[in-house]
Amino acid sequence: MKKRIGILTGGGDVQALNKVIASVKDTADALNIEVVGFIKGWKGVLESNYVNLSTLSIKSAIGGTILKSSRTDISKIENSCELVLNNFKKSKIKGLLVIGGEDTISNAFMIRSFPLVLISKTIDNDVGRFEYDQEFRLENIINYFTLGFPTAAEKIASFVSLREGLRTTAYSHERIIIVESMGMHTGWLALSSGMGYPDFIILPEFPLKYDSFLDKVIKKYEEQRHLIIVVAEGGKWMDGSYFYSERDEIEDFDHPRFGGSAIALKNRLKKDLARYFDTRNINSVNPSYLYRSGAPNEVDQFWAVKLGKSAVKLLADGMNEANFLAIQKDKSGFKIQNFPLSRFNSIDELHRFIDERFYDPEEFQITENGKKYLREIIREIPLDKSYGIK
Ligand code: F6P
Repeated sequence: MKKRIGILTGGGDVQALNKVIASVKDTADALNIEVVGFIKGWKGVLESNYVNLSTLSIKSAIGGTILKSSRTDISKIENSCELVLNNFKKSKIKGLLVIGGEDTISNAFMIRSFPLVLISKTIDNDVGRFEYDQEFRLENIINYFTLGFPTAAEKIASFVSLREGLRTTAYSHERIIIVESMGMHTGWLALSSGMGYPDFIILPEFPLKYDSFLDKVIKKYEEQRHLIIVVAEGGKWMDGSYFYSERDEIEDFDHPRFGGSAIALKNRLKKDLARYFDTRNINSVNPSYLYRSGAPNEVDQFWAVKLGKSAVKLLADGMNEANFLAIQKDKSGFKIQNFPLSRFNSIDELHRFIDERFYDPEEFQITENGKKYLREIIREIPLDKSYGIK
């Protein structure tokens, strides 16, 4: 009888998921292993709802996930570990590949004695660890990036840039455009807009020093007569409250619904800048799900295939503990490295935030080190300073 393993995708979708699923299917076929895909992530595991991958035709260049996704917190369900392990036993599933962000992976910590392989995917890029020394050696980062981040990061840099994005209309109409980024608790996506040269970036990790921000906005506007400001959806005021969040719409992991921080900041700026200029030209844009939509870029495609292959090989070899598959930088480039999950006590040790090595909270800007980190993954879209006239 063929060995049978499972796969699930949980949390927010990213563009490279079908590519991983297709790679898993191909690798498993070659190794004579059967793969079942759980429908809607951990929800499918709880309900034993799955489909055999060999029955699916997977269009790997199309974004999203053919297996669908959900945000399901199994810790909220009584005896969930027992239920999950029993379901695996009944269905003869000998190993599971979990593809998800911080929340989806947190479920895996509850059943880490089962043969699990974890692949991180999230446009938020917040799964991994930034362990490095004073020299800021990029080789010390555990999991250089999460799947989906390269495509989304490239998009936001493009959206705010002069050559490909919003700066053309901003300078033509002397607008202040506030662009919202996804990222409820971490600002990696907002930070990566820095590769497209916005004027200011506001992150969830650094509550906004509004007065000093306003001074800088006025000064820079006087200088160049237009501005591009990027704000993460989880941006906060100094009292810790979000610019905007919808508590009525919390999901399983207790996160409120975001999406509105750019409008909130726009309204505040309109009020405070009314005496300086025509505030009709203070505008906001929220690309929202566009960051997660469409096709994966080349970096994402490449690593999706590799991660899928490595995961199946590990599960085929019959490991007896949970493993986290990370993308590591070394002297010759990037490689996949396997970290036993027992190395980490909880998901908190794999949840990373931005600090002042990457971001300058006085200038509201990405640092040189932040750019050094991002240059390994996405292209820079330089700002041609000679455009426009005052
Ligand atoms: O978790 C990734 C993410 O992209 C967050 O940045 C965002 O707040 C969230 O997904 C929203 O997604 P959904 O509407 O699918 O819950």
